[in-house]
Amino acid sequence: MVGFCCEVLTQLVFLNVAGHTEWLHDALLPSPILVRKQLTGEPLSLPRRKPLASGTLMAAVASLVHFSLCRHSSLFHYHHLRALALSVAIPFSSSAASASSPFSTLSSSSLRQKSKRLPAAAAAAAALLEVGGVKIAKEDVVREGDPTNNVPDTIFSKLGQQLHRRDNHPLGILKNAIFDYFDGNYSGKFTKFDDLSPIVSVKENFDDVLVPADHVSRSYNDTYYIDAHTVLRCHTSAHQANLLQKGHNHFLVTGDVYRRDSIDSTHYPVFHQMEGVRVFSPDEWLASGMDATSYAAMDLKKALEGLARHLFGAVEMRWVDTYFPFTNPSFELEIYFQEKWMEVLGCGVTEQEILKRSGRMDNVAWAFGLGLERLAMVLFDIPDIRLFWSTDERFTSQFSEGQLGVKFKPFSKFPPCYKDISFWISDIFTENNLCEVVRGIAGDLVEEVQLIDNFTNKKGMTSHCYRIAYRSTERSLTDEEINHLQWSVREAVQNKLNVVLR
Ligand code: DAH
Repeated sequence: MVGFCCEVLTQLVFLNVAGHTEWLHDALLPSPILVRKQLTGEPLSLPRRKPLASGTLMAAVASLVHFSLCRHSSLFHYHHLRALALSVAIPFSSSAASASSPFSTLSSSSLRQKSKRLPAAAAAAAALLEVGGVKIAKEDVVREGDPTNNVPDTIFSKLGQQLHRRDNHPLGILKNAIFDYFDGNYSGKFTKFDDLSPIVSVKENFDDVLVPADHVSRSYNDTYYIDAHTVLRCHTSAHQANLLQKGHNHFLVTGDVYRRDSIDSTHYPVFHQMEGVRVFSPDEWLASGMDATSYAAMDLKKALEGLARHLFGAVEMRWVDTYFPFTNPSFELEIYFQEKWMEVLGCGVTEQEILKRSGRMDNVAWAFGLGLERLAMVLFDIPDIRLFWSTDERFTSQFSEGQLGVKFKPFSKFPPCYKDISFWISDIFTENNLCEVVRGIAGDLVEEVQLIDNFTNKKGMTSHCYRIAYRSTERSLTDEEINHLQWSVREAVQNKLNVVLR
């Protein structure tokens, strides 16, 4: 693999040739650091930087730039802001984007069309997954050596698992409990979708829900790109606009969502969300004497407070104002549960622009999004997000259909083993990239990757020391196994991240 410096140079030349040096300069200006709260599937808001020029080329350029973020940065909702210089980084590959790559000809829409087959090469592949009516081969999703693709094997292996569709799984049980609430209170008015393909276009995932062109969530550092125009959805909001355009007025979308992220007991690169949307017509708010927005906000709060009570019982609740690109006003609902305030969901009154584009000039709507793992972890007392993926009978046998909130009994706690790794970082280093490399080697045996030391020497070189906790949720690991993993991790970190081990 050619060094990362060369890659950056290649990309800088590309940017220059494309005449977008101004944008690049803008991207390099000091920018807020975005610190994410500990919230799986949490909604995100974001301070805006100067808007970028739009257009396909710009989108491609933007997608080639990684933003260096701190540990808990994430997609649409940021609360704490600190100053940070952005750094430019390029995906794990050395060649520039190739317009002639077979995959770039595979449009996202063809991937997403029901029952459509993929191109010949893909079709020939032995293992075809069927996800949401779309047949997918590994080669269609994981394309090592293609700089517009950053999906690793570990992520491909999660596609099609659809934990939320298993009635005996905590996520399926929770999904069904939420469905019951809406069915019971809205006499079946809400149409439910839980099998939509997670492969969506950049347009659906971001543009259609008004995510700004310079929003950090669009970066390769945060989102899994299949190619420059196609991603693994990072939120179920990706389906809002399409469903509105198809004429749906009340709907719930549940699905697996994908985000490049740090590693700890509440963060996993694949998790599950549910999205809800309700559209009102003028007669509904006119009869109330309220203005459209106040009416929708009032109805939204009533609906979601009811949902929180349905799931958590008679808890104390509070509403917090926030920001999302797709709603205005935007709120978070928090409940007081197990002696602390906990965020349950993000929501708001849908931006008029989204409704307008779906041909609904005269309507108002509300929308919400919630992370299923986050809620299931507290409802079922599940201490580690990796457990949701466990096939160990000692886990799976503890849950059954309709049994919301049965408390998980740990079958035993295996000891963690800690190993440190220190290196001099380069400008393009990001923690999400490190975590991806560690997961690529250790898979679910890694419990946490934590920055424990960070300093810059007189020469301006910055050193990071990370502590990796190895722990299986199912068995004891041997010293030999862990040492082997750690050596492989060191090798991969050195080879793939352009850092110098210390
Ligand atoms: N899409 C948001 C996220 O993933 C969650 C969300 C927030 C969805 C507010 C909504 C909404 O529909 O109105 O962080």
